[in-house]
Parts: sequence; C-alpha cells; structure tokens
Amino acid sequence: MVQETHLTVNDLIYPMFVMEGEGQKEEITSMPGCYRYSLDLLLKEVAEVYELGINAIALFPVVPFEKKDATGSESHNPDGLAQRTVKAIKQLVQGLVVITDVALDPFTTHGHDGLIDEHGTILNDPTVEVLVKMAIAQAVAGTDMVAPSDMMDGRIGAIRKALDAAGYMDVGILAYSAKYASAYYGPFRDALGSAPQFGDKKTYQMDSANSAEALKEIALDIAEGADIVMVKPALAYLDIIRRVREHTNLPVAAYNVSGECAMIKAAGQQGWIDENKVMMETLTSIKRAGADLILTYFAKEVALLLK
Ligand code: PBG
Repeated sequence: MVQETHLTVNDLIYPMFVMEGEGQKEEITSMPGCYRYSLDLLLKEVAEVYELGINAIALFPVVPFEKKDATGSESHNPDGLAQRTVKAIKQLVQGLVVITDVALDPFTTHGHDGLIDEHGTILNDPTVEVLVKMAIAQAVAGTDMVAPSDMMDGRIGAIRKALDAAGYMDVGILAYSAKYASAYYGPFRDALGSAPQFGDKKTYQMDSANSAEALKEIALDIAEGADIVMVKPALAYLDIIRRVREHTNLPVAAYNVSGECAMIKAAGQQGWIDENKVMMETLTSIKRAGADLILTYFAKEVALLLK
C-alpha cells in the first residue's frame, strides 16, 4: 500500500544485437543470456519480446570487419544491416517502437565514435555531418526514434534540422546526453567488436567525476530538440539521474549498461547472489532515482518475471 516505486514492463527498452547471416544465434561471452542474432532469428525474438509487452527495442548492428573503414561509411548505407533490420521489424510488428543507434564506432576500423585526424584527434563537426546522413538513412528505413550515442557537440540540433527538412518530423530523438567515459561498457564492445584501437573516449564522453557538467549537456540537448534525455551508465550514476530528473520535465532514460548486467550475471552464476532479486532491486533503484525509462539487457527476463 505504501510502496512508492513500481517497476513495470512499460519502463523497459530492450537493447538487441543483429548480425549478418542466416540461422545464426551467438551468445555473447561476457553477457550471458544475451545473443547476437542473424536477421531471421532476430525477427522471431522480436515477435516474442513484443508478445511479452515490451514497448521498445534499441537496435545495434554487428558490422563485419571488411565493411569497416576510417570514416564509417557503412553507417549510412541504405541497404546496411541496421536499415534492413528496421524495415523487416516494421513489416512484422507496427506497434513496437524501434530505436536506432547513431554513432560511428561499430563502423570505424579505429573503433571511435567519430572521424579522426592523423594525430587521432576527434573531428567534431565533420563527424556530425556523417551522423546526420546516418540518422536520415535510418529514418528512410522507418525507424521511430534515433538515438545519438556518440557525444559529439551539436549533433542533436543538426539531426533534428535535417530530419525535419527531409520530412521526418515524426521521428523522435532519444539523446544520450550525459554519457560517461565508462569502463562498464567493456562487454558491449566485446559484443560488437568495437573496442577503440587506440586511446580512450575521454575527449568526447564525460568524466565520471563530474555532475554539474551533466546538467550542461542535458540543457544543450534539450535546447537542440531532444525528446528524451539519457544518463548512461545507470548504477554508478544514480545521483546524476536524480539531478537530471529534477532539472527537466522531459522523459528521462537511464542505460543499465553491459558491465552492470555482467556483474549481476557473473555473481548469480557463482551462486554468490540471488540473481533475480538483485536484478529487480537494481532496476527498481534506477526508477526510484528518477528514470522513466530503462534500457536493460534484463528486459525480457523482467517481463517474464512480472507476468
Ligand atoms: C557506442 C555505444 C556504447 C554503448 C552504447 N553505444 C559503447 C561506447 O561508448 O564505447 C554501451 C552500451 C553498454 O555497455 O551496454 N556508441
């Protein structure tokens, strides 16, 4: 009667990995229970996820090395894997919200989210031009929301303007606004084979020691046209989620990232914690902190548990 926070299936967004091929399903070693699916098997999984009442998925393509280059040109190929997948999902289930990732790291040989110069420095504005092309390609394919996870400055405004000009004013933007340079992304980079080949992402992702800066990043993205703002990772950043919640009336999303999931899975497999209970407690804490939406690899398990 007095419980303040209720985790429901409506809060969940399920990140899913799609790869080339047919009849393929590979478990991701550092993310037990998470798979890369070829498109045919992904569609079966998507239908199941939709049946379970999950409203939205966040799609990440696994790009074969031969399709990667220094400028990530495969990212805006109209027949690229992500684009083909969006089209197929939209034909299968119209009611599912499909969210597509906008960032270059799965597509670049160097694994950075942007273009780089000969010294390895990220080139912000030229990157934004490529991200715009990527967002348009996804919109043409039928995506419902684009989710820029790259952390370049000014990309939300540039993408909003380009989508509107191309007639895609109904495509929303889920902005990875306060995205920290985090070691918790390790398993995700294993999943995509996208680990940076040199240096780190600290010149464009945020310093984990900073809090006020998150509000600055959020304010910029809101001014530029974000529809939902995100804090990422979630668990080590619950205070940031709370500050952002108090700062805006926009929906706030939080990303319960791969490393957070891996820790619970690993300890659960060892029998050191009760995996399901820790999973529910963790996700409830993210919602209690102020998140309206949670991207989590546990989405399907939670949906099954709540049924
Ligand atoms: C890259 C991207 C990352 C994640 C989502 N998009 C990794 C990174 O920034 O290196 C991480 C998600 C996770 O760890 O679950 N644009």
